[in-house]
Amino acid sequence: MIGRLNHVAIAVPDLAAASAQYRDTLGAKVNPPQDEPDHGVTVVFIELPNTKIELLYPLGDNSPIAGFLEKNPAGGIHHICYEVDDILAARDKLQAAGARVLGSGEPRIGAHGKPVLFLHPKDFTGTLVELEQV
Ligand code: CO
Repeated sequence: MIGRLNHVAIAVPDLAAASAQYRDTLGAKVNPPQDEPDHGVTVVFIELPNTKIELLYPLGDNSPIAGFLEKNPAGGIHHICYEVDDILAARDKLQAAGARVLGSGEPRIGAHGKPVLFLHPKDFTGTLVELEQV
């Protein structure tokens, strides 16, 4: 059911420093920061040949990243995103298997303008999983 790894999202305490590290030390193609007020994050997209990395930094008062950075002050992997062809079919299948979908259970429009859902990390070996319909 799941397809390509769309991205790995890493929460970082210093967006400029992390961007510079990926650009200058790792030699990756790093895009400018992009504010996503609906998601409470500022995102830097890093393009790799086979996937993307997204650096996440809190934006606004109720950012979902703020608590994560409190527990992980040096930053860390926040979630991984898999592509699916049909997000509603994927959701229904996963829910039927007992997996919990976060929030209302309805897809939201994610940072790439496509429908996304998040799955409870306790149901997926301790990893927050995002599904994105492509
Ligand atoms: Co994501």
